[in-house]
Order: sequence, then C-alpha cells, then structure tokens
Amino acid sequence: MEIISGFDIVIVGGGAAGLRAAIEAAEQNPKSRIAIVSKVHPIRSHSVAAEGGTAAAMLPDDSPDIHAEDTIKGSDWLADQDAVEFFTNKCKDEILTLDKWGCPWSRNEDGHVHVRPFGGMNRHRTVHAADKTGFFIMHTLFERTLLHENIQRFDEWFATKLFTDESGVTGIFALDLKNGKTAAISAKVVIIATGGLGRIYRHTTNSAIKTGDGIALALREGTSLKDMEFVQFHPTSMPKTGMLITEAARGEGGYLINNKNERFLRDYIPESMEMGPRDIISRAIYKETEAGRAIDTPCGKCVHLDLRHLGKKIISEKLPQLRDLTLMYLNLDPVTDPIPVTPAQHYFMGGIATDIQTKTNIPGLLAVGESACASVNGANRLGSNSLAKCLVFGTESGKTAAKIITKRKHPQIDPKQIKDEQSRIQKIIQRTGKENPHAILEEMNEVMESHAGVIRNEKGLQEGLKNISTLKEKIKNVEIPQKNTIFNMELINLLELENMLDLSECILISALARKESRGAHFREDYPQRDDQNHLIHYHLGLENGKLKLSEKPVIITKWPPKTRKY
Ligand code: FUM
Repeated sequence: MEIISGFDIVIVGGGAAGLRAAIEAAEQNPKSRIAIVSKVHPIRSHSVAAEGGTAAAMLPDDSPDIHAEDTIKGSDWLADQDAVEFFTNKCKDEILTLDKWGCPWSRNEDGHVHVRPFGGMNRHRTVHAADKTGFFIMHTLFERTLLHENIQRFDEWFATKLFTDESGVTGIFALDLKNGKTAAISAKVVIIATGGLGRIYRHTTNSAIKTGDGIALALREGTSLKDMEFVQFHPTSMPKTGMLITEAARGEGGYLINNKNERFLRDYIPESMEMGPRDIISRAIYKETEAGRAIDTPCGKCVHLDLRHLGKKIISEKLPQLRDLTLMYLNLDPVTDPIPVTPAQHYFMGGIATDIQTKTNIPGLLAVGESACASVNGANRLGSNSLAKCLVFGTESGKTAAKIITKRKHPQIDPKQIKDEQSRIQKIIQRTGKENPHAILEEMNEVMESHAGVIRNEKGLQEGLKNISTLKEKIKNVEIPQKNTIFNMELINLLELENMLDLSECILISALARKESRGAHFREDYPQRDDQNHLIHYHLGLENGKLKLSEKPVIITKWPPKTRKY
C-alpha cells in the first residue's frame, strides 16, 4: 500500500466533465498538481458514446433565455432556475472554446457551426460533429490535457473510498487494476466525475462502466443525493443491445411509426411530434405497445424509426454512425429499411447534490457531469443538454477547485481510515458463500426495469424496495474466486454491484415519496402533476447508517410553473 501525497486536486472519472475540469484547473493554476483517476482510459469513458450533439444558443433568433425557458419547461418546472440560467449563459463559450482547441464541429457552407433541431428545443441549437459528437469532444479534451504537465493520469485505477475528516475531504483510496497495488491519495479537493448508473437497468444505452461508483462513495461519506427518482428513458435504442439510435435521426426528419404504419405521435403530441421531449415519447411508445400496436420483431416488440425518405446523401453525411451501427448490429440499411427501436434507460437527472459552483456539503468535495445534480435537468432532461452540462460545470468545477486550493491546507488522511479500508477490501476477497453475483446483477436489472421504469406505481415500487434489500443481503454471501487484487475484475464487479444496489434503493425510496407524475417519473396511481405538494426536491442522505429523506424548495426565478404542453 502506497501513500501518495502532494496532489492539490484529485478528479475521479476521466469523461467529458472530468477532463474539462482538469484543463480548467490547470489553466487557472499552472502550478497546481492534478490527478485524474479513472477506472478506464479516458478515451474509453462513456462520454465518447454521446452522439447527437451539445446545446448552445448560437443563432441570431436564439438566446440563453429562450434556451433556459425550453430547459425549464422540459424539466416539468423542477429545475432550479438560477442553475439553468447560469448554464444556458455559458453554453456558447464552451462551443467556442472547443472550436479554438480544434473540435471538428459540423459546419454550414458559410463556415458557421451547424445547429440541428432536438426534442423539446424551440430553436435549432444542437451543435454537433456529424453524429459522433462525444467522440470528437473527448479527443479534443484529451489532447488538451496532454499539454498540461501538471495533470497526471491514473488510468485503470478504481476508487473504492473517499476519505473525510472534520475539515472536509482528505483524499481517496484506489486500486491499480493492472498490478493490484493499492494507494491512498490525499488532496485538498476531490472532484467526482464518474458519470451515471445506467447499468442498474437491463435495457440501457449506457456502457458497462456506468455503475454509479462516485455517487455511492459520496453518499457513504455524508453528501445528499437529489432528485434520484428521475430516470430518463431514451425513446430510440436498438432492441437487445440497447445501443443508442440518436435523437438526431428525428432531428433530421425521421418518423416513428407503429404496426398500422401510422405516425402515432399525432395522438400524443400533435404539435411537436418527433421533436417532443423524451419522457412523453417514451411513454407514447409504451402505450402503443400496451395497445397492441407495436411491431413484432425477432428482437421483441418495437416501433419503427423510418429514415428512408431522407435519402442516402443526408443519412450518410449527417448520420454516418447510425448507419454503420444499424448495418453492423441489425444488418439493416436505414436508406432502404425502417429501424426497429425501443425505449431504453439513458440518463439520470438526479445525483450528488451540488450548488452552481459544483460544491457539495463536504468542504473540498465537488461533483460534476451526470454524477452531479445542480438541478439543471429537473424531472426530464432535454437531449443535448448533457454534454453541455459536462462542459459548463466541468469548467466551473475547475475554477472552483483552483480557488479552494489556495485556501485549504494540504490534508492528511487519517491512517486508521486507510487501514480500515484496506481491511474492508481484504475481507471482501476472503468472503465465503454460495451466492452468484451474476444472478444478483440480473435480478437487480429485472427489479429496476419492471418496478422503476417508464411507468411506476406504489405496489411495484414497494416490491422493488423489498427485492433490492434481499439482494443487498445476498451480496454478502458472494465468494470471489481470485484471492488477490491483481486485475481482479470479479472484485471490481462486486464493488460496482454494491454501489448499484445502494443507489437502486435510493431511486425506489425517492420514487415512492413522489406521489405525483412529473417529467420522467410517471406514477399510474398519481397520474397528475401536483405542484401543491410536490414542487420540491427530494434529498436522500445517510443518518446513523440509515437513508433519510428530506425536502428542499425548487428555485424559481422568472418562469412560474405552467401546464406543460407540446
Ligand atoms: O440521442 C442522442 O444523441 C442523445 C443525446 C443526449 O442524450 O443528449
């Protein structure tokens, strides 16, 4: 076990938010020492998989205020409006900064950055690089980190614990996957940027690494989690694999059709149709399926996404990745064939509660990206606000961290805490028992899919909670065959599973508390929005080892709640 000291800032997670934070902190303070600790090489982070684009008011007929209004309506009025205004005011700067750093945005003939329409956005404001936006943003950011000698990477290191004392955060405990060595890394600031936790669901667009690790670590150290009940289902994923079929396909003019060859969204959101928000379109697909109007395919019940009328030129130029993916994984060419699609878990609106400067309630601990909730997304995120959120709040986090390190003394990690964590890991490795971790994972996926999915009710959520607590007991009886820490993926997967079970419980508890329907949280037993009783954020934190729910008001600045109509 090594003790690594001397870092000012440790960033856990190497996706878009983490890299953007590192670059900003390095630019603000070139003398600071910054570590990026990530369980995968940054270029394998899930941000690379983002497709359709990143939002910013770029056109003369658009403005940060119009973007804010769309975001707030999209959030079903649960977003904190001060955070949204801050966010929409900064989105354009990020586009220009990345442009300067060489991000190959798609452009118009006149050289201006091209913006495409996206669901719930009243203006064309989704900036993109074909339909591989995350890939190009990540390469731009990654290259930029290489210019800063004060950024040091710990690739394929898995963080198992945050250390704190009465002064705030003191560092992390992490495991070097490649050689099994462990280390306690101290820092004045720790930034959690580990992304979401999509893998708690069976059908998800998220890659296998999205297991909510940073969120679970923060919860255990005393931060509160906010808005955990709001889980976004993207309307169009590939059946079976869950791979994302980008919303850009609808932005470019694609239609959704049922087994009667009808554009069924006419019956749900006649004015915006395919450009409606994700929560409403996912529910519409669910209802079409319930009504027997889904299409039977070898991969199960689906609706069709029809792009054929767009023609080969537009599909190949604007949606090249979509075409590659459908050809490769479905053996279908969108130029000649409709694509079977089905909703899949895609994003978490909730996460570690932070303020606009990305600070949590623990001094020195910041959080950004999908793992954090500054309440920009409220009850439903609009497509293309996610990459933008990673960039805007990544930058803010780097700035905040650079300020904190000038004031905070370098902390020392309590040696007892280090010893306790070492022995916790050893005990997990030495555990005996007959439970199968793969079966537990599958059961958790099934529970969350059926009880905390697109449509929810009291009975299902209660049952889900009971099942998750049984699984939390079962996991204590899993034996790991490999008895050392060298590339011990069974150990890592078990720690990830523990994280996911803890967070599944949080989702179910918050979803039970919210006895109304708002945004992505639809309760068939409470089908109406209820501003009287539920225009609030639910926070969950640990008190004496038990989850405790509390309420905080929603911040309204200029846009009082209205009926949400598209
Ligand atoms: O469909 C998409 O390209 C997803 C974009 C997003 O979630 O922001």
